[in-house]
Amino acid sequence: MMKDQVAIITGSGRGVGKAAALMMAEQGAKLVISDKDEVPAHETVEEIKQMGGEAVSYCGDVTSDGFAEGIMQKAAESFGGVDILVNNAGYTWDSMIHKMTDEQFQAMLDIHLVAPFKLIRAASPYMRDAAKQEMENGIVKYRKIVNVSSVAGVMGNVGQANYASAKAGLIGLTKTIAREWGSFNVNCNAVAFGLIDTRLTQSKEKGETVNGVSVGIPEKVRKMFEHSIPQQRGGTAEEAASGIYYLASPLSNYTNGQVLHINGGWYT
Ligand SMILES: NC(=O)c1ccc[n+]([C@@H]2O[C@H](COP(=O)([O-])OP(=O)(O)OC[C@H]3O[C@@H](n4cnc5c(N)ncnc54)[C@H](O)[C@@H]3O)[C@@H](O)[C@H]2O)c1
Repeated sequence: MMKDQVAIITGSGRGVGKAAALMMAEQGAKLVISDKDEVPAHETVEEIKQMGGEAVSYCGDVTSDGFAEGIMQKAAESFGGVDILVNNAGYTWDSMIHKMTDEQFQAMLDIHLVAPFKLIRAASPYMRDAAKQEMENGIVKYRKIVNVSSVAGVMGNVGQANYASAKAGLIGLTKTIAREWGSFNVNCNAVAFGLIDTRLTQSKEKGETVNGVSVGIPEKVRKMFEHSIPQQRGGTAEEAASGIYYLASPLSNYTNGQVLHINGGWYT
């Protein structure tokens, strides 16, 4: 299904990004595995190689200067181009708005909205311009951008004014790229996840931190979420990654500018 497609997935050292990377590798894609944390990124690369697939890693903070251009170059040097970009890296930094600092608000915009913008812009020579040239030579090749949004960006969420604003903005970015690059056969879509069982949503009581910030959901709230989901549970990383996989595959060649809600029926 994805033979020789070159895919960049940010935040693919663990969680949903890793699950998506393994699925794509299984279908023949060549992966650029990227994460802020080098050890899990290298583990993902090794797993793919053990499956007989091809993968390289490009580690770093997606919000850092030059990251976007660097990872595009890595993909081009390693595999000759970029066909799929998944903007998945992320974390949460919650608090009620009356306590939220400027830094806290900006950090969520930076990772969930500004970084995807910079990555898509940096992909332009490899996606838009490459397609333009191919089209002049009568070649039709589809490329895919998948942006990872959230229930919070669609409905809002208590304690997440920063995250929800960024994830809502990401939907606006998605729909705009779909319009700008649709004629170049670049499909740009988003997934909006509900509750997915990863490090990000485990019990806050476990004390996990990301980028020095405590992540997770208080156990009481987690239980409340599970009860309000028609399927009565959170999704697995693989169930979430299936949506990314669909939107990155040829199955979605006529799907553009859409938001795929993967939430067990939490909202419709
Ligand atoms: N888990 C959920 O319920 C849920 C719900 C809605 C949306 N999402 C979104 O799904 C995406 C994946 O999250 P997940 O649940 O798999 O979490 P996760 O913590 O398991 O994985 C996220 C990965 O992103 C990496 N990362 C974090 N900050 C980074 C940075 N600055 N630069 C590079 N990499 C960075 C982390 O190291 C980690 O490996 C995120 O964008 C998240 O906001 C998750």
